[in-house]
Amino acid sequence: MFLHWLATTLFLSYATSFPTIQKALIPESLDEQPRAPLQDLVKHKGLHGRFLHITDFHPDHFYETYSSTEEDAVCHRGNGSAGVFGAETTDCDSPLTLVNATFDWIKDNLKDTIDFVIWTGDSSRHDSDEKIPRTEKEIISTNKLLVNKFEEVFGKTDDTDPRDGLTIPLVPNFGNNDIMPHNIMQPGPNRWTQSYLNVWRKFIPEEQRHGFSTGGWFFVEVIPNRLAVFSLNTMYFFEHNTAVDGCAERSDPGYQQMEWLRIQLQFLRKRGMKAILMGHVPPARTEAKLLWDETCWQKYTLWLQQYRDVVVGSLYGHMNIDHFLLQDHEDISKKALRGKTESITRTALDDEMTIQSAAGYLTELRAGWSQIPDAPKTKSRSSSGCGYFYDLFESITRKKKPKKSKEDKYLEKIGGEWAERYSLSLVSASVVPNYFPTLRVIEYNITGLDDLPVSHANCLENMTLQEVEEAHCFIQNADEDPTEIEQKKSKKRKGKKKKPKFTTPKPPSKSAPPGPAYSPQTLSWLGYQQYFANLTRINDDFGQEQVVGEKGWHNGKYSGKKPHKDKLKHHNKFEYEIEYDTRNDSVFGLKDLTVRSYLDLAGRIGQYKPPKGDRIEDIEEIDPEDIENSENGADVVACKDNELAPSKKKHKKHGKKHKHRKAINKVWFTFVNRAFVGARDDDELHDEFGQ
Ligand SMILES: *[C@@H]1O[C@H](CO)[C@@H](O)[C@H](O)[C@H]1NC(C)=O
Ligand SMILES: *[C@@H]1O[C@H](CO)[C@@H](O)[C@H](O)[C@H]1NC(C)=O
Ligand SMILES: *[C@@H]1O[C@H](CO)[C@@H](O)[C@H](O)[C@H]1NC(C)=O
Ligand SMILES: *[C@@H]1O[C@H](CO)[C@@H](O)[C@H](O)[C@H]1NC(C)=O
Ligand SMILES: *[C@@H]1O[C@H](CO)[C@@H](O)[C@H](O)[C@H]1NC(C)=O
Ligand SMILES: *[C@@H]1O[C@H](CO)[C@@H](O)[C@H](O)[C@H]1NC(C)=O
Repeated sequence: MFLHWLATTLFLSYATSFPTIQKALIPESLDEQPRAPLQDLVKHKGLHGRFLHITDFHPDHFYETYSSTEEDAVCHRGNGSAGVFGAETTDCDSPLTLVNATFDWIKDNLKDTIDFVIWTGDSSRHDSDEKIPRTEKEIISTNKLLVNKFEEVFGKTDDTDPRDGLTIPLVPNFGNNDIMPHNIMQPGPNRWTQSYLNVWRKFIPEEQRHGFSTGGWFFVEVIPNRLAVFSLNTMYFFEHNTAVDGCAERSDPGYQQMEWLRIQLQFLRKRGMKAILMGHVPPARTEAKLLWDETCWQKYTLWLQQYRDVVVGSLYGHMNIDHFLLQDHEDISKKALRGKTESITRTALDDEMTIQSAAGYLTELRAGWSQIPDAPKTKSRSSSGCGYFYDLFESITRKKKPKKSKEDKYLEKIGGEWAERYSLSLVSASVVPNYFPTLRVIEYNITGLDDLPVSHANCLENMTLQEVEEAHCFIQNADEDPTEIEQKKSKKRKGKKKKPKFTTPKPPSKSAPPGPAYSPQTLSWLGYQQYFANLTRINDDFGQEQVVGEKGWHNGKYSGKKPHKDKLKHHNKFEYEIEYDTRNDSVFGLKDLTVRSYLDLAGRIGQYKPPKGDRIEDIEEIDPEDIENSENGADVVACKDNELAPSKKKHKKHGKKHKHRKAINKVWFTFVNRAFVGARDDDELHDEFGQ
C-alpha cells in the first residue's frame, strides 16, 4: 500500500503539477518531447539562476523593545538593552519589526531576481518563557504570519493565473519548534501534519497533499521537468524526537521517508532531472556526537552516494551557525544501516546550540577534517579552490613539486577527480539574531537548461490522462524496477525473525557523467552571497561595551546595560549587507560549490594537528595578531581565472613565522568568524578557537 501511494503521488505530480505543460507530458509518442513548453517557461518566466535560502525566523509577539535580555525575562519584560530590531548575540527571539524589515528588504532587493525560495523552518518562538508557555494556536498563527509575509512579497497581483500560490515556488519545512512540545512529532498522520497541510496548502502540490498528511514530506518541481526540491521532514530523523526510532525498521516514519526519497530519486534519474534536498535539522555528525539517528544518517549518506548523479546539493538550518558538512561514504556501514550497534556510539548534540556547545562542535568538525587526505601540492589539481595556495599555513608546509603519482594516489583516496567519496550539506545561519540576522542567496547554473534531454518513463507512452491518474504503470514500475536490488540474504537465515526489507539504491550507470554536485554543469551551484544585518549598528543603542561571557542562556554583549536612547527615538536604516560572497572571497577560495571545492576548503581548515600533548608545539604558526593586522584577504592575491598565483612576497612581508602554541590558521579563523555571522569579537574567538 505504501508503494501504492508513493507511486500515485509521484505519478500524479508528474502529470498534473503544471497544467500549462500537462498536455505535453502525455505525448503521442516519445519523439514529441515537451521541449517547447519548458522553453516558454525558461524564457517567459525569465529564470535568474539565483534562489533564496532563509531559515529560523523565530518570530516572537511578546518581544518588547528595551526589555531585559536576561534568562528570566527573555526580552519579554524588565528593563534592558533589547533593541528595536532584536537583541543581537542573545538567545532572545525575533521581534516582528525584524521579521517585517527582513521581508521589506527581500521585496526591495531580491524579489525580482530569484527563481524560488527554500525556507527551512522554525517559524515560531522558542518555549523559553516559563511565564508565557507556547500554545498550539500561537505556533500555527506565527507560521501563518510568515506565510502571509511571503504572500505580501511574492503574491500574485492578478487573479487570472489559475495556479494557486506565489509568483515563484516556495518550499517550506518543519522545524523542531514548529510543533509542540518542541522536537516531538509522532508518526503521521497527526494533528501537526493536518494543521500544516492547511497552512502550507498553496506550496504543496495538490497530488502530494495526501502524502504530506501521512509524513510531512513532499517535493516541488521548482523548474518543471528539470529541478525538484525535496522538503524532508527531519523530525523523523532527529535524535531528540523521542516519539520515533530512526530509519531501520519498516514501521519507522524515517524508514518510510527514506523509501519515498529513494523511489522519487530513482524516477528523477529516469526523467533526467536533478534534485535539491532540504530540511531543518542537518545531518550533523562528528566523532562523538550526532543530530540524526545513526540509521537515518547512514541511509541519507548511502542515498547521496548512489544518487550522486541526481542530487545537486542539500540545505539545512536549525543550528544558527553558518557552516557545512561533508558526509564520507566510507563511513557507510552495513551493520549501522540496519541499526545494529557499532563500536562507536555517538551521543546527541545539544538540541539548541549554546555558544559553548557550538564551539565544541566546530572544533570537533575541524578535527574530523584534519583526517581528510592531504592534497599533493601541485598546480595540476584542476579543481582546487585558488585560495588553497594562499593559505598561510599552507605556505609553511609546502614541499617541492610532487610527481604525478602522488596526485593519482590522492585522487584514489578521495574517490577520483570529482571527490565522489564525499557528499556535501550546507547549513545556513538564522534570521533570529543569536548572532546577526542572516540569509543566503545561492547562484546556480541555468546555462543549457533547454538543451537537457527530457526522458519519460516508458509506461507514459500512449496513455490517456485517466490511465495516468490510475497510475497503473507506476505501481508496476515501482515493484518491478530492475534497478532495485533486493538484498534477501538476511531473510534466508534460519530461526531469525523477518528483517526489514532493505533496498540498496542503484548507483549511476557506469557511463553517466559525474553529477552537478561534483562537476560544474547545468544546475550546479556556482556560489552564494551571505547577507547579514548588523543590528549593533542599526539599533544604534550603545557605544563600545564590554563583552560578557555567559554559560547556558546567552544574554548578549550588552548584558546588564541600559540603552541611553529613548524608546524607539532613533535607529539606523535597516538593511542586509554582504557578509561574504563565495564568488570573490579569496580566503575560502571556493571557485564553485562542488564537493571537490569544499573538500579542499575543509582540508585547509583541518590542516593542523589536533591538540594532543606537545606535538602542537612543533607547528609553526602565524601569530593571530598578524592576521588581525592584515585586512581580510590582504595576504592573499585575488584569484583570477583559477590561476594559481601564490603571493610569496607578501607572505614574507606579513607572515612573520614563529612557533605559536595556538593552532590557528587564517581560513579556520575566518570559518569560525563566519559561523557566528561576524557578530563575535576577534579576541573572544581567538580565546575559544585558538587552541
Ligand atoms: C523599568 O523602568 C521604568 C521607568 O523607566 C520603571 O517604571 C519600571 O518599574 C522598570 N521596570 C523594571 C522591571 O525594573
Ligand atoms: C508587520 O507587518 C504587518 C503586515 O504584514 C503589520 O500588520 C504589522 O503591524 C507589522 N508589525 C510591525 C511590528 O511592524
Ligand atoms: C505506443 O504506440 C505506438 C504506436 O501505436 C507503438 O508503436 C508503441 O509500441 C506503443 N508503446 C507502448 C509502450 O505501448
Ligand atoms: C554551466 O553549464 C554549462 C552547460 O553544462 C557549462 O558549459 C558551463 O561551463 C557551466 N558554467 C560554469 C560557470 O560552470
Ligand atoms: C557592526 O557595527 C558595529 C557598530 O557600528 C561595528 O563596530 C562592527 O564592526 C560591525 N560588525 C560587522 C561585522 O560589520
Ligand atoms: C564581492 O562581491 C560583492 C557583491 O556580491 C561585493 O559587494 C563585494 O564588494 C565584492 N568583494 C570584493 C573583495 O571584490
